[in-house]
Amino acid sequence: MNETMLSGILDALEDGVAVFDLEGTVLFLNAKACELLHMTPTTLRRIHDLPEDVHAFFGGVRSGRSETVELFGQAVRLHYQDTYQDGLRTGAVLILTDLGEQQRADRIRHEFTANVSHELKTPLTSISGYAEMIENGMAKDEDVRRFAERIRRESNRMLSLVSDIITLSELDEREILEQAETVDLYALAQETVETLKSAAMLRGVSVQLSGGSMAVHGVRSLLSELIYNLLDNAIRYNRDNGTVSVRVADRKLSVRDTGIGIPKHHQSRIFERFYRVDKSRSKATGGTGLGLAIVKHICEEHGADLKLKSAEGIGTEITVTFPAFEL
Ligand SMILES: Nc1ncnc2c1ncn2[C@@H]1O[C@H](COP(=O)(O)OP(=O)(O)OP(=O)(O)O)[C@@H](O)[C@H]1O
Ligand SMILES: [Mg+2]
Repeated sequence: MNETMLSGILDALEDGVAVFDLEGTVLFLNAKACELLHMTPTTLRRIHDLPEDVHAFFGGVRSGRSETVELFGQAVRLHYQDTYQDGLRTGAVLILTDLGEQQRADRIRHEFTANVSHELKTPLTSISGYAEMIENGMAKDEDVRRFAERIRRESNRMLSLVSDIITLSELDEREILEQAETVDLYALAQETVETLKSAAMLRGVSVQLSGGSMAVHGVRSLLSELIYNLLDNAIRYNRDNGTVSVRVADRKLSVRDTGIGIPKHHQSRIFERFYRVDKSRSKATGGTGLGLAIVKHICEEHGADLKLKSAEGIGTEITVTFPAFEL
């Protein structure tokens, strides 16, 4: 193998590699090392040219050790190893691993667990508090009914949270599309409108459905959940006597409401797990902030495109565009 081939291979690595001789002169630097160090073979000629943290690492550790440092806002693991030829030390190699993606994934997982725990703890604390008051006889007769109602409401919140988490973890499993079949989205929308009719009536919101039969290749239960979540939001974040229009046509499902709308700076975030614009309002109506995260996930699984259009105080429209149907 010649030198060009070797450097081609090293450039293809996902880790940064920098090789030094005994004098600390750079013998070789691959592309990823240049990227992570923000240097080029011209600016990095000797060990002393390395960024301070990396240089300090070299000076401070023995061969075979690793350390994580932050380089230009990115977490990078440094590993240093002496090199030998025929038993004689010839220099050192520095390996740089970009932890960016991995750490980001770890952080998201950690945040999710913390959020779930928090969301479960709040209703449980209040359920246990109300039950204790009834148990101790601290609740007056007329309070007992009210407390029971709170207990039921908090339990329902937990039930819906747990079922959302189950849906999300099923979606994470990724084998879900094996259950795909031909689904008429219009018929499904009709069923969902029917299910949520009483909730809409309670709020004085009227729901209209238009369009016609539209075949989609997908998982019925997930598509039903998708429509349910969009419709539920459109009713929940509406104004009294507002309207919701559901339309199924031209490979599109759209749900438009005349509600409170979503401020611009929140729009890019509402599809994140647990994100709520107005925590108190959403909580008061029983929301946990998972609905749209589930919607986004279901769209991705079905190769559908998801678009949001919203103006504060005017309303919101969410449009899902499905790929062409092929038999
Ligand atoms: N149609 C809408 N109009 C105005 N705001 C909305 C609308 N849909 C969603 N939002 C905002 O986006 C946030 C996230 O919505 P999402 O459906 O993910 O969670 P949620 O409704 O709070 O709880 P749940 O998990 O029960 O659905 C909501 O809390 C709300 O602030
Ligand atoms: Mg919701």
